[in-house]
Amino acid sequence: MATELPNRKLLAVLRGQKLDVPPVWLMRQAGRYLPEYRELRAQKGGFLKLAYDSDAACEITLQPIRRFGFDGAILFSDILVVPHAMGQDLWFETGEGPRLAPKLSENDWHDFTPAPERLEPVYETVRKVRAALPAETTFLGFAGSPWTVATYMVAGQGSKDHAETRALAYSDPVKFGELIDAITATTIDYLSKQIEAGVDAVQLFDSWAGSLSPAQFERWVIAPNAAIVSALRERHSDTPIIGFPKGAGAKLVAYAREVRPDSIGLDETIDPVWANASLPEGLPVQGNLDPLALIAAGEALESAVARILAAFENRPHIFNLGHGILQHTPIAHVEKLLNLVRGG
Ligand code: CP3
Repeated sequence: MATELPNRKLLAVLRGQKLDVPPVWLMRQAGRYLPEYRELRAQKGGFLKLAYDSDAACEITLQPIRRFGFDGAILFSDILVVPHAMGQDLWFETGEGPRLAPKLSENDWHDFTPAPERLEPVYETVRKVRAALPAETTFLGFAGSPWTVATYMVAGQGSKDHAETRALAYSDPVKFGELIDAITATTIDYLSKQIEAGVDAVQLFDSWAGSLSPAQFERWVIAPNAAIVSALRERHSDTPIIGFPKGAGAKLVAYAREVRPDSIGLDETIDPVWANASLPEGLPVQGNLDPLALIAAGEALESAVARILAAFENRPHIFNLGHGILQHTPIAHVEKLLNLVRGG
């Protein structure tokens, strides 16, 4: 499906090319730090309404591309549409975050009625964005990885140390494994359909991979992500996959070797010099500026950017944050960052 255009730089790096000036995009680049996002959100009445309205979601995906000319556009949606499609109720409490019900610590997901039609507007968004995106912009789809999605399904909301989910994984690994397998199957189908609708590459967000012990990490992070990567590669061999196991630390090396993503996302706790020395030669990396250095700007930003660029000088590299851009980030700091990376 993905037709490689020579000027789609981010896609070229995902395929292993090293560029002198790394392509740039920012996780959560469409969102609350942008006045044009806040305006549309107020008009439409909430985040989830935006995510399921393909015209609004297309417009929001394009907003940061128009404003900053990022090299990548990421589909505007959320990782929690997958549990919604598996039949759990989903809503967002203002100022608090996501809620999923009934929660799995007290209920069995087998009792839910699957609702795959809930994902149809997302595929519609992909088709609309593909048609509207500048030819040189790489279009990224995404999904949450099974462990991270499971932490929300089990607790019914975000949780600091994911204790309920880790407890279930230890006390009933068979039942928990069935849940992970079901999320894995839904995710493979969901990402395949995003690819068929027109994304160039996909990112797997394992935002809470860092809460697991090494043996649990093997079982609930590495195994399901490896299953997703191999299934997608079988169906869509020319669509690169970015794995982002946030908080994995030194376990990134095993993740790279066993999951075999086309590229690996690094969070801001990873020393870029260590990553460059430790990860397989030639493996494209993405990251990893601390979102707080972007808020601080000045010398803190300049030295952090310089350190990242120097560390990855001899490796395919996509410049990004180590996690999502924060709501209070000034627009002028994003412009400054682009100048620092692109030498403008
Ligand atoms: O990167 C992008 O711009 C693409 C869109 C995107 C969103 N969420 C939009 C969103 C992506 C890739 C995500 C991923 C996501 N969603 C993750 C993994 C990455 C990460 O941030 O660690 C997780 C854990 C979620 C679940 C989620 N969605 C939470 C916990 C929250 C509430 C916290 C918050 O920031 O308000 C959301 C809401 C959400 N998802 C918003 C956006 C733009 C904010 C919605 C709003 O209030 O307008």
